[in-house]
Amino acid sequence: MPRSLEPRSRRRASAGRLAAIVVAVAALASAGVQVVRGARAHRAARALEREVPRERVAGYAGSASCRSCHPAEHASWHASYHRTMTQRATPDALIDADAFAPRVLHGPDGDSRVERRGDELWVELVDPVWKLEHLDGPLDPDAPPLDAPTVWRRVLLITGSHNMQVYWVAAESRRKLHAFPFAYLLDEPDEDARGPGRWVPNESTLLRPPLEGGVYTWNHVCIKCHAVAGQPGLAREDAGRVETRVGEFGIACESCHGPAAEHARRHRDPVRRYRAHIREDREGDAPPPGEPVNPARLDHARASEVCGQCHGITRFYDDADWRDHGSEFTPGRALTEAMRAVRHPALEDQPWMDAEVDATPDFFAQRFWPDGMVRVGGREYNGLLESPCYQRGELSCLSCHALHDSDPRDQLAAGMGGDDACLQCHAELAPADRRAAHTHHAPGSSGAACYSCHQPHTTYGLLKAMRSHQISSPSIEESTRHGRPNACNLCHLDRTLAWSMEHLEKWYGIAPVALDDDERVVAGAPLWALKGDAGQRALIAWHLGWEDARAATPEGWRAPLLARLLNDPYPAVRIIAGRALQRVPGFEDFAYDAVGDPGHRASAPAAVEERWRALGGAHGLDAPALLLPGGELDLAAVGRLTRARDNRPVTLAE
Ligand code: HEC
Ligand code: HEC
Ligand code: HEC
Ligand code: HEC
Ligand code: HEC
Ligand code: HEC
Ligand code: HEC
Ligand code: HEC
Repeated sequence: MPRSLEPRSRRRASAGRLAAIVVAVAALASAGVQVVRGARAHRAARALEREVPRERVAGYAGSASCRSCHPAEHASWHASYHRTMTQRATPDALIDADAFAPRVLHGPDGDSRVERRGDELWVELVDPVWKLEHLDGPLDPDAPPLDAPTVWRRVLLITGSHNMQVYWVAAESRRKLHAFPFAYLLDEPDEDARGPGRWVPNESTLLRPPLEGGVYTWNHVCIKCHAVAGQPGLAREDAGRVETRVGEFGIACESCHGPAAEHARRHRDPVRRYRAHIREDREGDAPPPGEPVNPARLDHARASEVCGQCHGITRFYDDADWRDHGSEFTPGRALTEAMRAVRHPALEDQPWMDAEVDATPDFFAQRFWPDGMVRVGGREYNGLLESPCYQRGELSCLSCHALHDSDPRDQLAAGMGGDDACLQCHAELAPADRRAAHTHHAPGSSGAACYSCHQPHTTYGLLKAMRSHQISSPSIEESTRHGRPNACNLCHLDRTLAWSMEHLEKWYGIAPVALDDDERVVAGAPLWALKGDAGQRALIAWHLGWEDARAATPEGWRAPLLARLLNDPYPAVRIIAGRALQRVPGFEDFAYDAVGDPGHRASAPAAVEERWRALGGAHGLDAPALLLPGGELDLAAVGRLTRARDNRPVTLAE
């Protein structure tokens, strides 16, 4: 029947029924699609589980099982960067949701691509297996471009979320992972931890000579500190079998509290839970085996060892055993049962390091200043061990840090970002007049803060300078003999070493040392920026953008100095200098690409100088120590110091 002839009411009824049928069919169809999609997602998830390290170790329960009884600790841990250190690769884990919008990336050994396919992240890269077989050592910059095969790989794991992310793809054996050669770098991690950033070659995020390539494998090294109870399972790697396991990806409860499966199981019994509650105040008792450890109840050395298992330069007694079964350390036990802290030969002779030093002659230089102070970030435990407050007192990581009640960005306990961190023990300096007499700076000045002089930013890592965790006092000798910029000249960037030395003698009675001509007349910052080695240049580049240093020195002279560092041979130095320049008034929008086209980079210094002059140059500053006699840049002196640059290759093993 032609529809137009139907009575109105029936038509409506029939339209209604039709609509119902359409809805029903649509619902069925979409359910079908969902079933198909669900099955596909399930298959994809199962495939992923076969490729990544197995997430199960006897005795370990995993953070999810702690949540119901410890909701507050679970929540504070969940907000931490510890948790997100290693994650399965899902779009939710990306620090920038658009990072995998399809694009081509240009790097030292060819182009790569990234792409998102549904909820999967994919990359195209030079086949890492081919690379390992064909490339032995650094790439030759003058050789023709590599004619290397590329492969598409799904990203399986993601490392990091605070400063940068590194991405991992399947290697030649199951459960083994190779790094994608590009990292996603946040521009200003300290300002806005989740701000947008950019892709850069992995190598450029590390301080090392350009073009020193290589293929990173997660299972060999990173697993030690980026997961709970990692077991590399590499005994049969040569035969193509890798059996890597972890208790859990990321740094979770049982990294710091020890295996707790038994505890979680037992406490499900309400009677036991009640009894446990009664004997809650067992201060100082070591927990019985199988029970979790509360680091706050351990003595200062044991408590710090909980952190030192990862935040330290340590070596296992038996490397082969570690490569198979992982670390024997569990929180509460002595770290020395499983591994030894490495010390510089200036402090202790450690013959058991000889083989490693034979293989890597620069081993110590890559990690320590020549006087034995650790100089790389993330290795705070070695600094703590050398501190007088630890050796002769009870300083521990937990004197200043709290893991559950703190800002995730630094995990400092309440009030421990300032002088109270020291005054809790050095109470003799608590009275304001005593403090002023000791510091010689106005109360409240950044120059009066204990941290400023006793824990300056002389360690390097993650493209920034970090606070040294070896408590020490400023001296000029540390700078002239060991090359470590001292606290005074890292804040008073416009002053000479001679100036600092004079005040150190007058204020603290510290004996003067011999200085060379430049050290007497040129300020520390330009000296290290122009003449220094790559490690010194990186530290100065960071301090040229540091707020405290900017407040302690006049404006108007940083740009021409940073300009030189924008064309530094080391990508890491360039990245840091580029960030610092953005903090100089008038240069916030200056277009600069630290890892892009070398031609653009080479022209950056002149472009900066031109803008600097247009903005008024040194604003009438007559500062010979800053190479600005009469306010004009002394190009002859800049050239002379640049030619004298210490070009010995520097690698910092952060
Ligand atoms: C079914 C409840 C329950 C579960 C699940 C549970 N706990 Fe507990 N936990 C308790 C109770 C009750 C106490 C306090 C009594 C005690 O110390 O045994 C406690 C105490 C602790 C302490 C403090 C010990 C001390 O000496 O101060 C830590 C640390 C801890 N749990 C860690 C964990 C971790 C890690 C997990 C997950 C792997 C976990 N718990 C799972 C109930 C539970
Ligand atoms: C000895 C322990 C240890 C080992 C081994 C280790 N790391 Fe780390 N890693 C750390 C620590 C500690 C930090 C945090 C440093 C800080 O915040 O100052 C860190 C930070 C990082 C970050 C920055 C994360 C972020 O959120 O910004 C990356 C990326 C990283 N590591 C990559 C690696 C890779 C890749 C490997 C293996 C080749 C590796 N690490 C091996 C301890 C280690
Ligand atoms: C990186 C190390 C670390 C991680 C990871 C960690 N904790 Fe803690 N936890 C500590 C330290 C250190 C303390 C001592 C107090 C403090 O620093 O906040 C502590 C204290 C505790 C306490 C005792 C609280 C009290 O009031 O005495 C419990 C319970 C606890 N943690 C449970 C957990 C659970 C559950 C997780 C995972 C969801 C977890 N922790 C993850 C280091 C850690
Ligand atoms: C299993 C290894 C491991 C243990 C144990 C561990 N850490 Fe960490 N820690 C890391 C890694 C890896 C990072 C880098 C996380 C990131 O920044 O994404 C880190 C980051 C940090 C940060 C910097 C947070 C940030 O992103 O800026 C602090 C502070 C810190 N840890 C302190 C501690 C203290 C204190 C302890 C001991 C109670 C401890 N950690 C135990 C591995 C560990
Ligand atoms: C005397 C106080 C104190 C002690 C002790 C201490 N820290 Fe810190 N730590 C700090 C301060 C201050 C910062 C800098 C925070 C900032 O700049 O926001 C810091 C920063 C850090 C960072 C982040 C570095 C960065 O800039 O990314 C890590 C990681 C860290 N500490 C780990 C440790 C570990 C592990 C221990 C024990 C071995 C320890 N700290 C002992 C005060 C302390
Ligand atoms: C947990 C307690 C504790 C804390 C916290 C602490 N110290 Fe100490 N510190 C000591 C002890 C104990 C000594 C050794 C005193 C002695 O031998 O007379 C010491 C020694 C020193 C020395 C003397 C070095 C020497 O060679 O004689 C300096 C400098 C120092 N501390 C500075 C600091 C500063 C700065 C802070 C904060 C960043 C700090 N301390 C935090 C306990 C502490
Ligand atoms: C973290 C930054 C910082 C550090 C580190 C620092 N100062 Fe200062 N200093 C300041 C600031 C800000 C002022 C100006 C306000 C005041 O007087 O406190 C200042 C003022 C001074 C002055 C007086 C004004 C001038 O320029 O003549 C002298 C002298 C001085 N500092 C010397 C030193 C010496 C020597 C050291 C090392 C022992 C040192 N400062 C470490 C920030 C710092
Ligand atoms: C402007 C730099 C500066 C500041 C700020 C500063 N100190 Fe010092 N401090 C020094 C110098 C330099 C020495 C070394 C004296 C020596 O070698 O004899 C020293 C020595 C010490 C000593 C060793 C004993 C002594 O009195 O000689 C302690 C303890 C100490 N400082 C604690 C602190 C504390 C706590 C604070 C914060 C309230 C602080 N300092 C702030 C420069 C500073």
